Amino acid sequence: MWAGMNEARADGGQAGRAAASGGELERAERAALTRVAQLTTELEDVSEVEYRQLRLERVVLVGLYGGDKTQAQAELSLRELAALAETAGSEVLDGVMQRRAQPDPATYLGSGKAAELADLVEALGADTVVVDSELAPSQRRALEDVVRVKVVDRTAVILDIFASHAKSREGKAQVELAQLEYLLPRLRGWGESMSRQAGGRVAAGAGIGSRGPGETKIELDRRRIRERIAKLRRALAAMEPQRATRRAGRERAGVPAVAIVGYTNAGKSTLLNALTGADVLVDDQLFATLDPTVRSVTTGDGRVYTLADTVGFVRQLPHQLIEAFASTLEESVGADVLLHAVDASHPDPDSQIVAVREVLAEISHGAVPPRELIVFTKADAVPPPFLQTLLAGHPGAVAVSALSGEGLDELRARLEQALPRPPVEVRVLVPFARGDLVARVHRSGEVLSETYDAEGIRLHARVSHALAADLAKAR
Ligand code: GTP
Repeated sequence: MWAGMNEARADGGQAGRAAASGGELERAERAALTRVAQLTTELEDVSEVEYRQLRLERVVLVGLYGGDKTQAQAELSLRELAALAETAGSEVLDGVMQRRAQPDPATYLGSGKAAELADLVEALGADTVVVDSELAPSQRRALEDVVRVKVVDRTAVILDIFASHAKSREGKAQVELAQLEYLLPRLRGWGESMSRQAGGRVAAGAGIGSRGPGETKIELDRRRIRERIAKLRRALAAMEPQRATRRAGRERAGVPAVAIVGYTNAGKSTLLNALTGADVLVDDQLFATLDPTVRSVTTGDGRVYTLADTVGFVRQLPHQLIEAFASTLEESVGADVLLHAVDASHPDPDSQIVAVREVLAEISHGAVPPRELIVFTKADAVPPPFLQTLLAGHPGAVAVSALSGEGLDELRARLEQALPRPPVEVRVLVPFARGDLVARVHRSGEVLSETYDAEGIRLHARVSHALAADLAKAR
């Protein structure tokens, strides 16, 4: 059943609109819905969304709890869904939760609650319902027929955000592939069952979950979608060698790689900027970074390593996306060090750590994970005692604030320690004419001692196998 209501919710203008639309639920009945407080989109956000000319949708969020999900967990998840929906350009009108251990196989909510939701949707003038889990295509259809507006699930929202954020050719192809695979079993004609509220927009193929790449409009038949999927797979396969070449080049040069991973909005791009002085898009929207950005960084003692920003992780990352992005994410799994950024100001940082590790485990297919260095970000935004508790729970972790610069030096030092040491110890005499080799040793190796004499430069250093071979040839 719908359980206890949180009266604290800011109802604002909704009540007036509800009464005006004539479809208001009885007060007693409304009291049966669990409201998630302060989920509604701020007005400034709305105008900002219009400014950016994104489609503005009016959405109601629905989640379930009970079974293995507590009410608090479900509420946190619904808040995250609200942030996702806003990032996708929607206006969140309301969020409700239902206690139900298992989703109803037919309509997800069960027919009685689905009818209640229909009333709420009508009262609020919503045009979309977003369900906080993955819906079977049949459940979505059945629920749509009851609530008479478009129903989308969490996966659709995430795919939508990815679609608008992908920048590179490869990223775009990967997202399109994931969208098509998601869409294929869900194709349906939007018939008379859709209400007038949703009609125009849905029919035009706009809105969350339907911002398909041009060709993925509902009217496309399955055959054409399958053809497009096949073509995208071929194109992506053709792009793979370039990536392999880049990776091989880096490995040959013996340059260690660090990947910043973390939950979406953890502050990864900000951290990359703070550590490198580079200029990566930082946005309070989720998934501002979709394509990996790589910078090269020089340590205090002159060694060079690469630092890559990666796409943010999120709970219940759609499996279509994991598959589509596996190749990109695999690069992070293949890094020498994972810098795991965790937002210290999040209500439950530990659950985010767990979610990120789960996705990493899924894409690494049992390979030994790289060394992980946890960095708590946004230290300026949390009370010191809370930060101390977090650090105590994660030995070896560092806390930083990109805003104040606090902790950044310590983080740099920890990173330098965590970098792999070049495997080969050499004692060589390098002729003066081969200053290039000496420079390479400084860049990618670890110089233990360096002396100059009449014959050349005597180096005692640790270097990669490739560089050791080149040094041996130069003698
Ligand atoms: P995705 O691209 O979604 O994965 O995000 P991200 O992890 O790259 O996060 P990003 O760097 O875009 O930062 C997210 C938000 O956190 C932005 O609004 C930042 O301004 C804010 N932020 C980042 N670092 C800090 C910090 O040290 N202190 C405070 N107060 N806010 C921060």
